[in-house]
Amino acid sequence: MAQSIFDLTGETAVVLGGTGVLGGGMASALASAGAAVAIVGRNAERGMERVRMIEAAGGRAIFQAADALDVNSLSEARDAIVRELGSVTVLIAAAGGNRPDATLPPGSDFCRLSREAWNGVFDLNLVGGSLLPAQVFGETMLAQKKGSIINIASMAGMIPLSRVVAYSAAKAAVINFTKFLAREWATRGVRVNAISPGFFPAEQNKALLFRDDGSYTERGAQIISHTPMARFGEAQELAGAVIWLASSRASSFVTGQNIVVDGGFSSTTI
Ligand SMILES: NC(=O)c1ccc[n+]([C@@H]2O[C@H](COP(=O)([O-])OP(=O)(O)OC[C@H]3O[C@@H](n4cnc5c(N)ncnc54)[C@H](O)[C@@H]3O)[C@@H](O)[C@H]2O)c1
Repeated sequence: MAQSIFDLTGETAVVLGGTGVLGGGMASALASAGAAVAIVGRNAERGMERVRMIEAAGGRAIFQAADALDVNSLSEARDAIVRELGSVTVLIAAAGGNRPDATLPPGSDFCRLSREAWNGVFDLNLVGGSLLPAQVFGETMLAQKKGSIINIASMAGMIPLSRVVAYSAAKAAVINFTKFLAREWATRGVRVNAISPGFFPAEQNKALLFRDDGSYTERGAQIISHTPMARFGEAQELAGAVIWLASSRASSFVTGQNIVVDGGFSSTTI
C-alpha cells in the first residue's frame, strides 16, 4: 500500500511552547503521525508530562528547556536536539499569548496602555514567538534544504479584537513576517506558513473566558455568541492543519499561507 502523504516518519519536529495547551496538542499530533518531537519551553514539569503522554501513545519525544526570548538558550536547545534526534525538519513556533497588563478593561482609556505592556506582548509573540526560532532553527533547515516552519498566529491578527490591541497587532505582524520569510526561503527548501486559531481555552486566556466556577465570563459568552459553531475549539482540532503543513508531501507547494481554524469566527461581521 502507498505510504500516506501525511506520514511524518523520519521527521524531527521542534514544538516551541509545547509546554502549553495548543503547542502540547500539536506536539502530540505530530508524534501520532510518526515524527520524533522535541518539546521546548521553560516549564520542565509540563514538558515532561507531555513527553510521557506521547510515549504512552507509542510516540517518540524529548523535553529541552529554553527561553524563546533568549537566542543563546534557543541555540543550545537546537544543538542538543540535533545531537539527540537528528536534523530538525519541522518547527512549530507556539510560544506566545497575551498578558494581563496589556488587556484593556471595559471602558478603559486606550491612551493609558503602557509601553512596557505593548513591548512585552510584541517581544513574546513576534520576537520570541517567531523571529528568533525562525533564525535559530531555520539555519539548520537551510543547510539541509528541507524544512517546514509553522508560526502560530491568531484570528486576532486578522480582526483586531477589542481590549487586546497589542496582542492583535503583534499577531498581525506574525502573519506578515510569515509571508516575508516564505518568499525569502521559497527556493531554498524551507516552507513557512502560519496557523491562526480562533478561541481555544488555554492557560493564557482561561481567566478571560471562564469564572472560577467554570461558567463563562461575560467576554466568554460574547465570544461564543459570535462564533458560528457556537463553541470554543479544542487543541486536537488543530491536528489536521499542523500535520498537513508539516508534511513535505502533503503541502509541498504551500508556503506563505495563513490557515484559519476558528469555528467560523472570522467569517461573521456581527
Ligand atoms: N488559546 C487560544 O485561543 C489561542 C488563539 C489564537 C492563538 N493562540 C496562540 O497559540 C499559542 C499557544 O498558546 P496557548 O493558547 O496554548 O497558551 P498557553 O499559555 O497554554 O501556552 C503558551 C506556552 O508558551 C510558553 N511560553 C511563554 N513564554 C515563553 C518563553 N519566553 N519561552 C518559552 N516558552 C514560553 C508558555 O510557558 C506556555 O507553555 C500562542 O502563540 C497563542 O498566542 C492561542
